[in-house]
Amino acid sequence: MNPQDWSDRYRSHNTKWDLGHSPLGLEAYIAKLSERKKIQIPGCGRGYEIMDFHKAGHDVIAIDFSEGAIEEARHVIGPLADAIICDDFFEAPLEEGHFDLCYERTFFCAIPLEKRRDYGSRIASLLNKSGLLMGVFLYGKPDPDGPPFPMTKEDRERFIEPFFSLLFDERDHNGLPVFNENEERWQIWQKR
Ligand SMILES: C[S@@+](CC[C@H](N)C(=O)[O-])C[C@H]1O[C@@H](n2cnc3c(N)ncnc32)[C@H](O)[C@@H]1O
Repeated sequence: MNPQDWSDRYRSHNTKWDLGHSPLGLEAYIAKLSERKKIQIPGCGRGYEIMDFHKAGHDVIAIDFSEGAIEEARHVIGPLADAIICDDFFEAPLEEGHFDLCYERTFFCAIPLEKRRDYGSRIASLLNKSGLLMGVFLYGKPDPDGPPFPMTKEDRERFIEPFFSLLFDERDHNGLPVFNENEERWQIWQKR
């Protein structure tokens, strides 16, 4: 889907992937962060998590290439939507090595299959040496008719493991019906 397709979905409220709040579990994770962090959120959608990271004192730069998503984010998080850059995550002029943490929910499974090869290197390039990638990832059988395009074990080996090692992996039991045939997993990855 191109940015216009995503915007059409947001403007018509055809957003079955949207939880309506941050994933359960994020609050507890944020509570454990000891210092002020620089956070990157690709494909942030309505941006609930921007508010949660911001409330806890962290600096967030989020990205979404859909104007419709950002309009919606303005309704949900008000002026905090200024933290969203409207651009393609793979091309936006972000500072390399700047971020401590990249958080995402259902972004990997939203990008076209041919973009997957750029995912790990792009995120790793934006993170500092000890940076982390964390969030909710959709696993399941390959589905060329997505999005969503669930991640398989092979995808993970090809596209994420060359750049990150897995620190934490747990099933998320608070998933949405739209993802039911698949499996949402909380994962934390350490940059190699
Ligand atoms: C499935 S939605 C997830 C939104 C949000 N993370 C959530 O959990 O509700 C995927 C989002 O990624 C955005 N997106 C897809 N490809 C993108 C790209 N290349 N650059 C920036 N945003 C992108 C879409 O506009 C959409 O808002």
